[in-house]
Amino acid sequence: MKITMSTEPAAATHVLRCVHCGAKQTSADRMFRCAECGELLEVIYPEWAGTAREFGLRLKEIWRERRAGTLPEDASGVWRFRELLPQIERRHMVTMREGNTPLVQLTRTARELKLPRLFAKHQGMNPTGSFKDTGISVAISMARAQGFEFVCCASTGNTSASVAAYAARAEMKSIVLLPAGQVASGKLAQAIEYGAHVLQLQTDFDGCLRVLHDVVQRFPAYLLNSMNPYRLEGQKTVAFEIMEQLDWQVPNHVVVPGGNLANSSALGKGFLELRELGLIRALPKISIIQAAGANPLVRTMRENGGTELVRVNAETRATAIRIGNPASWRKAAGVLKSTGGACEDVSEQEIAQAKAELGAEGVGCEPASAASLAGLKKLVRSGFVKSSETVVLVLTGHMLKDVDYMLDMRVKRVLGPMPADPASVIATLERLHAGN
Ligand code: F0G
Repeated sequence: MKITMSTEPAAATHVLRCVHCGAKQTSADRMFRCAECGELLEVIYPEWAGTAREFGLRLKEIWRERRAGTLPEDASGVWRFRELLPQIERRHMVTMREGNTPLVQLTRTARELKLPRLFAKHQGMNPTGSFKDTGISVAISMARAQGFEFVCCASTGNTSASVAAYAARAEMKSIVLLPAGQVASGKLAQAIEYGAHVLQLQTDFDGCLRVLHDVVQRFPAYLLNSMNPYRLEGQKTVAFEIMEQLDWQVPNHVVVPGGNLANSSALGKGFLELRELGLIRALPKISIIQAAGANPLVRTMRENGGTELVRVNAETRATAIRIGNPASWRKAAGVLKSTGGACEDVSEQEIAQAKAELGAEGVGCEPASAASLAGLKKLVRSGFVKSSETVVLVLTGHMLKDVDYMLDMRVKRVLGPMPADPASVIATLERLHAGN
């Protein structure tokens, strides 16, 4: 790659490489599968090979300067990092300032876990309330550049909300397939409000994805599920943001929930690329946490070391990660191996408890996101995370996505109904204060 210190480095051209057989191709079929072996593809940038070290250092500066910029592509927490993204013309970029999410220090939880530095990267603070926006922004821009009118996805809810919103912004039409009765109401409402064609199928998420596989062969809609490798390019930028927010001090651990396993794969890809380009020297251990009732990767790692997927019939109230046949399992297993992370599962009770604790710290998140804290507690207990180490938890979705869960769990007591007079209120408060 050519570098001139006075101008911005250009985005590199990319190719698609199979994560299994390594075959390379410049374009993909409608399901984004390897033409040789049918496995998933990943985006690689051959021009990075042998890139000079000053390229990396210059990038840090450019990215910092852009944070104060007013252009849409500079204000975006995704497109601000465009040197490490597929090239796309400005006019095709669909952006809503995605990314730019806070890294919140968790002091109370850190105290309880006896950790010196614990942070939550709150991706629920994205435009539609989940991390999906970072990936959808890139993938839908590719769809627009290719002239598609329709985009589509199968979803446990968040992807559908994001796809619907970004399609609306791009004046495209969106089609979302949802497992009937298994999507949190906040997410369903979003997809409807943003104007998607919402189709509820009598199956689970894995079933929806199977149906969509056939639909896209026969209907001209661009697939925005995470088999689409451009999704991961957007989602990997969370690693860049975390590093900026930690002033380029690499944390010891990043802990992330896993469902279809693209987010953990993207996170790992982001950190690996930073190291490849010399922006960081070490890698954090990336640990992936699943619900015990939806733990195909945990079983895959335990039972065969990550060589062959063990499918499960998924069941969990953390509906976002109710997935038994995850598409990106091979990529995620690769991230576990290359970063030395752990793969754990947590019970429904542990998720509910962790979620309540995050709420009590004023942070809050949706159930699937809380799996990361539940998993961290396990990893601290087992000694995998040590008492001197810095940890970043990835919180993937906003608390208000799944209000029914919170009300059903009755984690917090609600008092009343009671008479609407000050005396009743004060008497109640005094009783509470006295510990009765
Ligand atoms: N957390 C939340 C809030 C999610 O919505 C998802 C996935 C995950 C974690 C897991 O991420 O699949 O990349 O491992 N939701 C998808 C959806 C499946 O359709 O919204 P993953």
